[in-house]
Amino acid sequence: MKLKDKIAIVTGATKGIGVAIAQEYVKEGAKVVCTGRTVELGQKVVDDIRATGGDAIFVRCDVSKKADVDHVVAETVKTYGTVDIVVNNAGVNHSADFFEITEEDWDWVMSVDLKGTFLMSQAAARVMVEQDKPGVIVNIGSVMAILALGDQIPYCAAKGAVNQLTKAMGLSLIGRGIRVNCVSPGPVLTELMERVVHNEEKHKQLMDRLPIGYIASCEEIARVCVFMASDDSSYFVGQSIYPDGGRSIQAFPSRLEKRS
Ligand SMILES: NC(=O)c1ccc[n+]([C@@H]2O[C@H](COP(=O)([O-])OP(=O)(O)OC[C@H]3O[C@@H](n4cnc5c(N)ncnc54)[C@H](OP(=O)(O)O)[C@@H]3O)[C@@H](O)[C@H]2O)c1
Repeated sequence: MKLKDKIAIVTGATKGIGVAIAQEYVKEGAKVVCTGRTVELGQKVVDDIRATGGDAIFVRCDVSKKADVDHVVAETVKTYGTVDIVVNNAGVNHSADFFEITEEDWDWVMSVDLKGTFLMSQAAARVMVEQDKPGVIVNIGSVMAILALGDQIPYCAAKGAVNQLTKAMGLSLIGRGIRVNCVSPGPVLTELMERVVHNEEKHKQLMDRLPIGYIASCEEIARVCVFMASDDSSYFVGQSIYPDGGRSIQAFPSRLEKRS
């Protein structure tokens, strides 16, 4: 088991990739604090984990609110005594034409994807340092940190900033025994992805830019997050890795490459 007896906080673990990360971490021996805003979904995730013999609790949290984040970390320490791993997975996207984006849209995406990552990292790292224990922070970025889409401007900006936040926190915290890295997926089968690829044409466009030929499962990404939280990645500091099915390496759409 790669995470035996480790205490992990996973944000956005009420659906999608976060649930798979929580489940894979439990399989690897971790005790997991699942968080998110939707209590019924989060409680169901935790009940299912417990039904398989795993150890998990749910704590409601909006990651954009410092009081909520501090509450999660306090509940984690109260229940399990410490925090070893944080996965900053909670994320939202907003798709709109540049001129249609409102200040509220911008603030919403930034407050969850970027500020939430900072707030949770700071609160958990404080405990790790106070307890003088090594720790790991895994940020969930996106291939949209290095590629761009004209109709997802706040998301691209936030995820690009998460890459830089990962590097800066990596530098700041490595001397205090905390490794910070980022897992940045390509397309993954979740509600967030369904909202983006919502019709046949969008799906075709995506497949034209996806060398591996299919959209990733949540479990495929969660396995990379196990690696990033375990000693297998002990020499990684401030890095972003891209499980993206080749999405970020393809210069031209497949349809054009096949003609040549
Ligand atoms: N799916 C993809 O193709 C893809 C690709 C690259 C990167 N990613 C990244 O992977 C992460 C997970 O995405 P997903 O596809 O699994 O999305 P999802 O299915 O929409 O799930 C998003 C999760 O984030 C939580 N969340 C949203 N706003 C929150 C807030 N203010 N505070 C706390 N939790 C919040 C949601 O829980 P509640 O609604 O209960 O709060 C939910 O658990 C995100 O960071 C996303 O950017 C996804």
